[in-house]
Amino acid sequence: MEWWKQTSIYQIYPWSFQDSNGDGIGDLPGIIRRLDQIQDLGVETIWFSPFYRSPGEDFGYDISDYTAIDPRFGTMEDCDKLIREIHKRKMKVVLDMVMNHTSDKHPWFIESKSSKDNPKRDFYIWKKGKNKKPNNWISMVGTSGWNYDKSTDEFYYSNFLSFQPDLNYRNPKVKKAMFGVLDFWLKKGVDGFRLDIFNSIYKDESFKDNPFSLRFFPTPDNHDEAFFQKKTYNLNLPESFLFAKEVRKHISKYKQKPFLIGEVSGSGKVLKSFLGEKADGLNLVFQFELIHFDYHAQFFKELLDKNEKEFPTPFTPTYVLGNHDQRRYIDRLGGDIRKAKVLSAFQFLARGIPVVYYGDEIGRKEGRISNFLGKDPIAKMNRFVPLFLSNLLGIYINRDNCRLPMLWDDGEGAGFTTGKSWLPVGKFLASDTVSGQKKEKNSLWNHYRSLFHLRKNSNVLREGSLHTKQISGSDVLCFERKLGDKVVTVYLNFGDKSWKELLPVNFNLLFSFGGADLREGKLELPGHSGMVTEFRLRK
Ligand code: GLC
Repeated sequence: MEWWKQTSIYQIYPWSFQDSNGDGIGDLPGIIRRLDQIQDLGVETIWFSPFYRSPGEDFGYDISDYTAIDPRFGTMEDCDKLIREIHKRKMKVVLDMVMNHTSDKHPWFIESKSSKDNPKRDFYIWKKGKNKKPNNWISMVGTSGWNYDKSTDEFYYSNFLSFQPDLNYRNPKVKKAMFGVLDFWLKKGVDGFRLDIFNSIYKDESFKDNPFSLRFFPTPDNHDEAFFQKKTYNLNLPESFLFAKEVRKHISKYKQKPFLIGEVSGSGKVLKSFLGEKADGLNLVFQFELIHFDYHAQFFKELLDKNEKEFPTPFTPTYVLGNHDQRRYIDRLGGDIRKAKVLSAFQFLARGIPVVYYGDEIGRKEGRISNFLGKDPIAKMNRFVPLFLSNLLGIYINRDNCRLPMLWDDGEGAGFTTGKSWLPVGKFLASDTVSGQKKEKNSLWNHYRSLFHLRKNSNVLREGSLHTKQISGSDVLCFERKLGDKVVTVYLNFGDKSWKELLPVNFNLLFSFGGADLREGKLELPGHSGMVTEFRLRK
């Protein structure tokens, strides 16, 4: 089975991981310093949010040079060393690739904007408006996607923020340039790309108005209908599905067998379209349903059943609990570490790829920075919305709060920086840090470490099939993973009450937590605990 179908992914947000020069911003030499610890945790693939040259208005998701390292983070030599050092430790490197748009400070856009007959004009989407916007398309952030440029009296399109103009993929030169960028990094040996808002790559050529929808708020797994609009003509175009295959084909010739993981959203049908009917599109897509978990066994059973039905082998589901755009999951659990252990166990034991956001392994909590004081451009746009109101409405506005610095130790600056941190480190205890949790056997960090290693060392968990089992009258989730004659059974108790079960066959105990134990041939799961057993089928 291909390596990317079995891996585990750990996301690093470079701004906040490890500073090495005291400027309060994380950097590549800092990350290199922490690689032994990441390897010890058991991580297999590291995905880096962008560290390319960028004005940093959207913290790197506004790129002004795709083949240069932003000086905040280091040099190209540091990057080469980072790739080398990761490979030396038998881990893989995935870079974030923002193909949909550039920064408005990218030389292509500066040229494009300079005059209507500039050769780069057609690198972006320009349209004439008759006293008004060219059409009603709304961007993913809820504003009009059209931005007026006075000097050439036309509008350019941006499906995110106005300083992130969308590239025009109907221009073959744009495609060629972007494939050149992918080649540049693939030749350096990177093992894959995370493709930013890939559902937005193509816009409909007709530029027709989008139809009305009753829905206002988007969710992480559905941007198709939002802000009273059905995004028929500016999201999830059939051309984007085809392009997924084109990119896959292009990268497949590289010997490291790289993969693509797309940030897309929509129904199972839409996700499947990005993956290709013959699994020949994007290798993986992020699946965000887990982000809206309802902490009950039934929710997780239904999610597994749905994924097994919609994404059977050769498709590989992904299980995402958080990222740099979402509220930290620990806060959604009211800070309950027992529940965090059950939830993360679910993520690692299901058939699919667990995607872990840095800091989730220590239960890093959300910040409380108001929207008014936010550095995040989305917070700046909504600065007069009080934090309690956006929380009440369940909308996430100030993404600074999930991007706080990593807590390494209880020294000044939490071991993250010796300088003034770009976002506050905040108050914390020694037991909230990596070094504090390493010392404590039952910490969340040690739990994650066990899960990473358990999965890594079990081919049943990596490759086996999955079947859920019905357990009525309790809040226990049970599923079986099977490969050859080996069966791994997972029991997770989401309830407060303890649950007992007679075990039918001889088995090995692979892992347990939260006090789950065996007593006189009986399995006993206290509230919020879990157990993993293994047995061989008799021939
Ligand atoms: C994606 C990124 C987000 C960024 C946006 C625009 O959603 O995850 O952080 O702001 O795209 O590039």
